[in-house]
Amino acid sequence: MGYRIIVAGIGPGNPKYVLPAAAEAIQNAKVLVGGSRALADFARDGQMTMPIRGDIPAVMDFIRKHLETSDVVTMVSGDPGYYSLLDALRREFSEDVINVIPGISSVQYAFSKLALPWHDALLLSFHGRVPDDSALKYEKGKILGLLTDAKYSSKTIPDVLMKHGWPADARLSVCSRLSYEDEEIVRTTLGKAADEKEQTHCILVVEG
Ligand SMILES: C[S@@+](CC[C@H](N)C(=O)[O-])C[C@H]1O[C@@H](n2cnc3c(N)ncnc32)[C@H](O)[C@@H]1O
Repeated sequence: MGYRIIVAGIGPGNPKYVLPAAAEAIQNAKVLVGGSRALADFARDGQMTMPIRGDIPAVMDFIRKHLETSDVVTMVSGDPGYYSLLDALRREFSEDVINVIPGISSVQYAFSKLALPWHDALLLSFHGRVPDDSALKYEKGKILGLLTDAKYSSKTIPDVLMKHGWPADARLSVCSRLSYEDEEIVRTTLGKAADEKEQTHCILVVEG
């Protein structure tokens, strides 16, 4: 039997929110790939590790090389199925060699902190991309859950939404550092977001 790439979701960050199946795979890994923060939190002595930085082709080469002699466990934040390295792995390797262990997405966690069901929410990403105009358009009662980045942040996204017809008094929850000790959830409105501290890598929940 060939070796496998095990893509393990590690949740929003705090080890308390890692599923036991993912923790076991990470603990037993001989070869472990992940962001620097994840490696600092989860890697143990004796494991061969590779940090994921900007150079994705180098990560793919590392995985291909070690897959000849071992399983390779790759940690991704949140859930692997929601904007993670899984996309690139599926382009590079056959799905037959990939096992995915789900994780709690930061979006899912944010909705739980707001005690807000997310079955009717539209989940979109501003992380390195901009959603279509049609998805951003205001409709009464619409709920958005948004990933952000340094360019599209808690300060800049409210303007984008108001240009798409969202009212200034629409509720906005800015959810940052989710699951960590310094987790912060600021409840404001689209119109008042500019008065609050800017958060870059966070979840925005907008209620129309
Ligand atoms: C590449 S996406 C990864 C999404 C991940 N696969 C998931 O399911 O949560 C990175 C973005 O996720 C969000 N994110 C991840 N962890 C977070 C956390 N602990 N608190 C707030 N937002 C977080 C931020 O919007 C960040 O820019």
